[in-house]
Order: sequence, then structure tokens, then C-alpha cells
Amino acid sequence: MGDNVTEPKNTLSIRDNRTGRDYEVDILDGDVIRAMDLRKIKVEESDFGMMAYDPAFTNTASTFSTVTYIDGGKGILRYRGYPIEQLAEKSSHLEVAYLLLKGELPTETELAEFVSDVTTHTYVHENLKDLLEGFRYDAHTMGMMVSAVSALSTFYPEAKNVRDPAVRWQQIVRLVAKMPTMAAYAYRRLRGFPYVYPENELSYTSNFLNMLFRIEAKNYEKPNPVLERALDVLFILHADHEQNCSTTTMRAIGSSGTDPYSALAGAMAALYGPLHGGANEAVLRMLERIGTLDNVPGFIEGVKAKKERLMGFGHRVYKAYDPRASIIKRTADEVFEVTERNPLLDIALELERIALNEDYFVERNLYPNVDFYSGMIYQAMGFPVEMFPVLFAIPRAVGWLAQWEELLRDPEQRIARPRQIYVGSDVRDYIPIGERG
Ligand code: CMC
Repeated sequence: MGDNVTEPKNTLSIRDNRTGRDYEVDILDGDVIRAMDLRKIKVEESDFGMMAYDPAFTNTASTFSTVTYIDGGKGILRYRGYPIEQLAEKSSHLEVAYLLLKGELPTETELAEFVSDVTTHTYVHENLKDLLEGFRYDAHTMGMMVSAVSALSTFYPEAKNVRDPAVRWQQIVRLVAKMPTMAAYAYRRLRGFPYVYPENELSYTSNFLNMLFRIEAKNYEKPNPVLERALDVLFILHADHEQNCSTTTMRAIGSSGTDPYSALAGAMAALYGPLHGGANEAVLRMLERIGTLDNVPGFIEGVKAKKERLMGFGHRVYKAYDPRASIIKRTADEVFEVTERNPLLDIALELERIALNEDYFVERNLYPNVDFYSGMIYQAMGFPVEMFPVLFAIPRAVGWLAQWEELLRDPEQRIARPRQIYVGSDVRDYIPIGERG
């Protein structure tokens, strides 16, 4: 090297212009510095030190993770390195669940054992029905599910022992197995139908469809294999999505050492919001409100004027077409060959066509996300809108649990506790109520 050329170093030099002092902090893999390294930057020795201000954590990594990779700019999604397109085409939800939870694709024996474990844990305690009976007749299924999942912690008190990997695994299997049963029960409760018990010889999604829609034992036809497979593909697509709002909630609650049922109920509550997993329900309600193709241009004008949000569009991470949305669009075509074509599809396609050509959406990189087309498939399959967020939560339980497991194995993780910057009143004396102006 010549005299004037400096060797590249994996460090960042920071000059504090308030003091003229220079600092050097290490750069870790992937353009990352440790936020704690900023703490040494101070004006006075007694100062707290520098922090990063990041509302909504838009530029803060809370963990190293090996579960899911997303490149939002290129529209890439991989679970444990495997492209989502390959998993959706070739795998099954329980195989993907094993992959996410264990880190590797299973052998035939491992998969058979996992499927058998899950299948034999699908029953829930009979008392859970009493819990559901306590809800109002028209209670939203997601509200019932959040309560039912958290109630499971009372049936399995040993789940509190979160430092024991074997205990953790048992709760993971129970949750993956029981989510569809509880979801089906919540649906039957809403409809006022008698509950249908799990049937162990059916597949994960077939059993779920059976518990949901079976009306009488005689002459009952098994769920259509195309619909069974479509639901399995939708489950694969929803199984994990790295550090989103609900996963961050799962990790934050889990970091205090709480049991996985309570943590997962919290994650479900976070998912319920219309900006997250409640968006599929919001999309359907939006499409029904638009009603006809003639109303689409007026609706888009309302979105551009910020009177409305185009639900199912936009994403914090994806600034390209959400790869899950492309797969779901294809799945919709297959489903509509079996069911009736959902008439709302024409409105959705027109919304997408206009939006993808309008400056407002192009400039902001707003593309359809996972929730834009999924609701139309669910509706065509006979699900009421109240079930849409539940259908998101069932497969996402796998991702939440994989991330929770990773958290508990990570020696660097401690109880989650962000900082704040206090901007309220300085100290002041209490004034008795009679003397306040
Ligand atoms: N319709 C109209 N404008 C939008 C939309 C939308 N769906 N999404 C974002 N924008 C605009 C927003 O008004 C803002 O404009 P401006 O720069 O003029 O203020 C700009 O785009 C950036 O939006 P943001 O709200 O700052 O972006 P964010 O990263 O905080 O929010 C989002 C991401 C998903 C919450 C948002 O895009 C949204 O509300 N989408 C609709 C709800 C939805 O479909 N959610 C499902 C997300 S995917 C599945 C999941 O995560 O569960």
C-alpha cells in the first residue's frame, strides 16, 4: 500500500462537534453498530451518554436471527434460507413449521414423528368450551381466541418453566396442535353450531376444515383437496415474517420469562390491529364498501387526498411487490375454479391496476401486500370476515414460537426495556386542590 492509503478498518469514527472529541466504534456484520457504544459519547463525565431516538424501531435491530430473511427492496422472503416460492410449491405447513422451529428440514422419520405429535395434541380441555360459552353471542372470533390461548396457561402450569428446553418443546407442540381446534370452536360458537372434535386421521388443514364446516356425520364429504392445499399454502406464507409488530410483542413479553401461552396471546392481540393481521378483514370490508367498479376511481382519489387508506397495500419492509401476494394471487385462481369466483376480485384487480400506475403509490413504493388477496380466498372458501385475522394467527403461531425459542437461547437477550427521552415538566411542588387556579 502507498503511504497515503489507509487500511480499511471495520470501525466508525464519530466526531462530537460540541466537544471536538473523536470516538471510534466497531462495525459488526451488516452495517451495524452497537447502540450501547454510543453511550460513551458525553459532554460532561456525569452525563448519561448518547442514545439513538427511533420511534417505531424503523432503524433498530433488536436481535441477530437465523429464522427468516427478507430483502424488502428486491421482494425476497426466505425461511431458514429456503425461498418462500419453493416452500409454497413443494412443502407442507407442518414441514415448514418443523423447519422454522428446528432450523432444518426434517428427515422422513422426523417429519412423521412431528406430525404424529401435533396430531395427538389437537384436543383441548372440555373446560375451554365453558370459557367460550361465557362470551356474548356475537363475540369476535379473534377476541375469543386471544382469551382462549391465554387461558391455556392455566391448564399447563408447568409451562412457566421456560428455561427447560423439553418443557418449551412440549408447549410448542401443544400450541401448534391446538390453535386450529380453538379457532374452529370460536367459529362454531359464533355460528351457534355444536363443536366438532378433531379427527386424527385427517391432515392438519383437512382436520381444521372438518372441525369448522362439518354439519352432520352422515353424508359428510371430506374437504375438497384443492381447498385443503390452498389453505396449507396460505399457512406456509403466513408462518413467519421476522421482527414485525406481533413478533416483537412475543419477544418483549417472552423476555420477562412469562409462559408461551400468555406471550402468544399478547402477540395475537398485536396482530389483531387493522394495520397488521387485521388488514385482511379491513380489505374485505373496504372492497364491500366500494361495491362496484365505477366507485374505484373515486375511492383512489380519496386515498390520494388521505381521507382513506388503501388497505392491503404498503409495507414497512417491502418496497417492491410482496412475494407472498404474487403466490396468493395464483392460489386465488385455483380456489375460484372450485368455488364461485369472488365478485370482489374485479374490484381488487381494478384497484391494483390503477394504484400501480398512479404517482402517489409509485413514489411511496406502495404495492399489494399479503393481505390484499387472501381475504377473497377465505371468503370464497366460506369463512366469515371475523375469521380472517384468526386464519393469520394459526400459522403465525409457528413463527412466534420459533422466535421465542431463539430469544430464550440467545445469551445476549435480557428483559426488553427501551429508553425514553423525558420532555415533561421539570420538578414542581404539589398544590392542594382548593388552591389550584
Ligand atoms: N394507503 C395509502 N397511503 C399509504 C398506505 C396505504 N395503504 N400505506 C402507506 N401510505 C402512505 C402514508 O400515508 C405515507 O404517506 P406520506 O409520506 O405522504 O405521509 C407513506 O405512504 C408512508 O407510510 P407509513 O404509514 O409511514 O408507512 P409505515 O411503514 O409506517 O406503514 C403499513 C406500513 C403497512 C402500516 C402501511 O403501509 C399501511 O397502513 N397499510 C395498510 C394496512 C395494511 O395493509 N397492513 C398489512 C401489512 S402486511 C401484513 C402484516 O404486517 O400484518
